[in-house]
Amino acid sequence: MKLKSIYVCSECGAVSPKWSGKCADCGSWNTINEEVTAVPKKGGGISATGNASVSRLLELSSLNSDTDEGKEIRVKTGTGELDRVLGGGLVKGSLVLISGEPGIGKSTLLLQICGALSRIGKVLYVSGEESTAQIKMRAKRLGVTAADTFLLASSTDMDAVIAVTGNTKPDVLIIDSIQTMTSENVPSAPASVTQVRECTHALLKLAKSSGVSIFIVGHVNKDGGIAGPKVLEHIVDTVLYFEGERQSDYRILRAEKNRFGSTNEIGVFEMGNKGLSEVPNPSAIMLSGRPAGVSGITVFPAMEGGRAVLTEIQVLAAKNPYGGTPRRTSDGFDGNRLSLLIAVLEKRAGYAFSVCDVYLNIVGGLRITEPASDLAVAAALFSALCDRAIPDGMALFGEIGLGGEIRAVSRAAERVAEAKRMGFTRIIVPNACMNGLQDKTGIEIRGVNNLQEVFTGL
Ligand SMILES: Nc1ncnc2c1ncn2[C@@H]1O[C@H](COP(=O)(O)OP(=O)(O)OP(=O)(O)O)[C@@H](O)[C@H]1O
Ligand SMILES: [Mg+2]
Ligand SMILES: [Zn+2]
Repeated sequence: MKLKSIYVCSECGAVSPKWSGKCADCGSWNTINEEVTAVPKKGGGISATGNASVSRLLELSSLNSDTDEGKEIRVKTGTGELDRVLGGGLVKGSLVLISGEPGIGKSTLLLQICGALSRIGKVLYVSGEESTAQIKMRAKRLGVTAADTFLLASSTDMDAVIAVTGNTKPDVLIIDSIQTMTSENVPSAPASVTQVRECTHALLKLAKSSGVSIFIVGHVNKDGGIAGPKVLEHIVDTVLYFEGERQSDYRILRAEKNRFGSTNEIGVFEMGNKGLSEVPNPSAIMLSGRPAGVSGITVFPAMEGGRAVLTEIQVLAAKNPYGGTPRRTSDGFDGNRLSLLIAVLEKRAGYAFSVCDVYLNIVGGLRITEPASDLAVAAALFSALCDRAIPDGMALFGEIGLGGEIRAVSRAAERVAEAKRMGFTRIIVPNACMNGLQDKTGIEIRGVNNLQEVFTGL
């Protein structure tokens, strides 16, 4: 076998014949690494004209034929928040990538899920990072109770894992993590992009041919040499991100890609000393610790997939004593949208932010992308600037147009219902949504047409 060097970007997986500081494909710097790989045999490759010696034919199926193919078989994992993010349960034969920063709780989540899964099927948990003794200790600490169908292995040998999967026929296979796996059949260094990509390809084939559902853990890591999960996203069926703020115990599971469901759903968990527990009522935790009577704080009923979640928005407006360009910083909210809303407030309502630095934060690690949040963000900006607290028990939603008009948004009734359920007494909504609200009892609802109407009532 002849070997040669290729240069692979660890961010996007692009291959080039020579090294450079910047990837020509994705534009990342210092992500190109040398990998040694085998030279393909002469005469290989795919002929475009067809080859008479090919005796295999494809099995064809009519799109209209009513067979079981294409109908996904789903299993409830026993963890409702995960099932929700997966689109209603784990699909048989699917390949799911879970990635997230070191220590965020990927192994903990999978170990806990597997405990529950082992009671309804067979689980094979392969760790390339911990010994079986360590995994057992962790399971004990977390109080994971498993059936005898929970099998453990500590290995980094992809070929052996595939062989053992063939022998033991688990329903669910866990690979923790994909970066630790190597195959002898891939002539590249361990943890190289090629190695990680080929191992993932092999797992995809395994999932599709045997029907085993596979979770692989992928580390998010920018230091070269290790394949960024971006490379893997194209291969797998579903990409889940597990995120949270270091200081906070709350973790959010989010689908970035899902061949079997929507990517709008989030799962919310809380990390405790007994591991992760589900948070079926995210509004309560998103609002916990909300200070009363403080300016710059509003509550927005966000739609996170199928459910409404009350979200706290915080704005701090601080006079910039040195003049110059004011800062606009935002966390969990689009910075351009923030600048636009500030411009609309200045132009249409006469509030001057030009001498203020503005900091916006969406509490609890949520990311808000809905235009429906405009009104709550604008009210938080107004409240911060005037140093006037928004009345307790009030929520707001509505899209703001460039003319300062408040525009209708979708799913108004669900947003109002969630605010009511959480004990809110007042809600400000676009006037155009008023007619669509069937149930107007139990909460004071005010429909508004423009920014002036909003602020005169606050
Ligand atoms: N032995 C322990 N005792 C107490 N807490 C622990 C212990 N081990 C882990 N934890 C807690 O659980 C958290 C999640 O750990 P876990 O190993 O599940 O994360 P991970 O995402 O798999 O990390 P990595 O990328 O390092 O594999 C840790 O940040 C830590 O707070
Ligand atoms: Mg881990
Ligand atoms: Zn690249």
